[in-house]
Amino acid sequence: MQEFVVTPWEVKGEIDYDKLIEKFGTKRIDDDLIQRIAKHTGELHLMLRRKIFYSHRSLNWILRKYEEGEKFVLYTGRGPSGNTHLGHLMPWIFTKYLQEKFKAKLLFQLTDDEKFLFKERLSLEDTRRYAYENALDVIALGFDPKLTEIFIDTEYIKTLYKIALKVAKKITFSTARAVFGFENSTNIGSIFFTSIQAAPAFLETERQGRAIPCLIPCAIDQDPHFRVARDVAPLLKYPKPALIHCKFFPSLAGKDKMSASEEETSIYTTDEPEMVKRKVMNAFTGGQATIKEQREKGGNPGVCSVFQYLFYFFEEEDMKIKRRELACRNGAILCGECKQYLAEKILRFLEQHQEKREKARDRIEEFIVRD
Ligand code: TYM
Repeated sequence: MQEFVVTPWEVKGEIDYDKLIEKFGTKRIDDDLIQRIAKHTGELHLMLRRKIFYSHRSLNWILRKYEEGEKFVLYTGRGPSGNTHLGHLMPWIFTKYLQEKFKAKLLFQLTDDEKFLFKERLSLEDTRRYAYENALDVIALGFDPKLTEIFIDTEYIKTLYKIALKVAKKITFSTARAVFGFENSTNIGSIFFTSIQAAPAFLETERQGRAIPCLIPCAIDQDPHFRVARDVAPLLKYPKPALIHCKFFPSLAGKDKMSASEEETSIYTTDEPEMVKRKVMNAFTGGQATIKEQREKGGNPGVCSVFQYLFYFFEEEDMKIKRRELACRNGAILCGECKQYLAEKILRFLEQHQEKREKARDRIEEFIVRD
């Protein structure tokens, strides 16, 4: 089997999430830890119940601090290279849940600089425009404006730069190359960039002049940035940021992650109903070639993108998802029925999201901070 690749800029191949924990040196979120979270949150989010958020760094420490009365700041972000897709929403929806349950402040970074540096085709004007568009999706999810700061790197660089410089001074080229796979042909802005993504993790500590714990929810592809940030933190007298990682919301092609560059197999928050229907109807499933075969042999929800969509996001009730899985395996339902069901769920979600997204246009200044 082809070895899979997971870096902040490339995810490909069939991902073995257990192996990734080993490779990256993170910890699995076990049942004890889930129960410890539940003590504070009451209800458990679907993404915890179903172990979609499955890996962490120092989460026990964050909870211990919280239990001792010390609040943490949340930090997450987006690289504005295009429209937002459903995969991006996953860590943000989960972050919103954490903000609500722990009454935590959120720092949200929009890395227009990163996408300018890493994407040949994009200008700074493009990435800035996408940053503002992506911010609408963040706001639409219902974050508390009193507890949320959204910033675009090129508009907040004066605040971030001093921290980024301190971080950059402690990271050698050889570390950056080993972690991110840079080559001699890589532009030097890209090599420096990780220090900009590290900076917000230490921002609250700088502002308050004392150690403020920071928790970063993200998909596991972003971990390499923070592995490096954690290594340099003690050298700069900052607390190491803690992390909670999710798996990737799959593409409609049934493998890899949903990726912004593959339009036909990704659902964007701005998609029109007809596009959504078409994409779902063309989705890869675990069904058999004919109805007769499906009835006899049953389908395979394990490889089915439609089932994964329901499992990751759109089927809130555990009983219902179990029943559907069984019905699929027994051949009691056909792929067409599942696709129809999923399409309706997505359309309902997007209709509401798009309405909130439009309203967010007038609220953007409640959230954005600039130098
Ligand atoms: P970006 O824009 O690639 O992705 C934004 C967030 O979405 C996660 N993600 C996914 N999660 C689930 N399923 C998927 N298919 C999927 N695709 C992407 C990413 O892990 C990320 O959490 N450099 C970052 C922006 C950033 C950031 C941060 C992210 C700046 N500071 C702090 C997390 C935490 C980026 O390009 O993300």
